[in-house]
Amino acid sequence: MRTEIVSARPGKTSGGSQADDPSQPGETVVVRVDSDEGFAKAIKLLREGEVVALPTETVYGLAADALNPDAVAKIFQAKERPRFAPLIVHLPNRQALAEIAIVESPIASQLIEKFWPGPLTIIFRKRDVVPDIVTAGLETVAVRMSAHPVFREIVSALDRPLAAPSASRFGRVSPTTGPHVLDELDGRIPFIVDGGTTEYGIESTIVRIVDGVIEVLRRGPIPMGALQPFGEVRERISAGAIIAPGQLPTHYAPKTKLILVEDLKGFPVRSGKRVGALAFYPGAAVGDAGLRSAIAATAVVREVENFVAVRHLSQSGNLREAAANLFRMLRELDAENLDLIVAERVPKEGIGAAINDRLERASNRRTE
Ligand code: TXA
Ligand code: MG
Repeated sequence: MRTEIVSARPGKTSGGSQADDPSQPGETVVVRVDSDEGFAKAIKLLREGEVVALPTETVYGLAADALNPDAVAKIFQAKERPRFAPLIVHLPNRQALAEIAIVESPIASQLIEKFWPGPLTIIFRKRDVVPDIVTAGLETVAVRMSAHPVFREIVSALDRPLAAPSASRFGRVSPTTGPHVLDELDGRIPFIVDGGTTEYGIESTIVRIVDGVIEVLRRGPIPMGALQPFGEVRERISAGAIIAPGQLPTHYAPKTKLILVEDLKGFPVRSGKRVGALAFYPGAAVGDAGLRSAIAATAVVREVENFVAVRHLSQSGNLREAAANLFRMLRELDAENLDLIVAERVPKEGIGAAINDRLERASNRRTE
């Protein structure tokens, strides 16, 4: 299959296409076309039951008409996703929620009011119209409304809910740029709408309401503290059945073995080994911010010299910036042909808890 990638900026009106003719089947051609044409083509393909990769404010999603089981089956095929892993449904507008789900809790309504559109996914009891393949046979459906202007424009024009998991192969690091989607799914999907780098860089927070308590099933850009004004919040400890594959101990994993440490300082790099470092910010490897003196800074340089590749998630110690860079930097380190990636935990405030969660899962790589 030929994969096309188009750049899109919402609201752009001028014309002109530089699209090439498709060459051999199975070959990927990267095409840049005018955004209007890109939108029109994405909408047409989705109407026809095809899959299209679209940017959201969290990560890129691989979208298909959520009410068309044949279209949704193509998502599973392209991602090599096991059928037991249910998908998130993205709404064209808030009103569409009542068509696919039953809203029972007033807390859910308040969360919707506060966080939609945005990076919060809520689990509801589903209506019959939602095909079993979307929910992996569950009686519940995960729903959110993306705030990304490109996604919104397309889903609104379509006026149908879109099922969209992250546009990566199952278990891999989610893509945060159009070219990353191409790396993951080249030749497996017909079309990628490139909307630049995604804002948050990690997947949405997933919650469900049980007996008036907000249970966090996956940490994400909406931190637990932001949910507290709406009720008691607890993290669901995954015992027994896994409710969300984002809860699988191994997920979001680079190919290279990754270990997670509290502090990169003093990490013993074995000679002859190609070891890369993923640090929080340039001063972070010497402990807390208060210790950052000129002497400590020299020590950092020396520590960092033992690593053949180093990435700093943020230049200034900003957690939002760190989240936005996380998956790109994991990809970059993964491409360095390393024996090992050593990642450093970040402070657990705000979105930091979700960053640490992804790093933990990336580190629990099965040994083949
Ligand atoms: O930010 C995001 O949520 C991105 C963008 C594309 O929207 N999507 C995403 O989808 O991360 P995916 O498929 O990679 O993750 C979907 C998560 C999984 O952990 C899945 O188990 C959970 O949602 N999920 C889906 N339906 C569920 C349900 N009925 N009950 C509990 N968890 C569910
Ligand atoms: Mg995913």
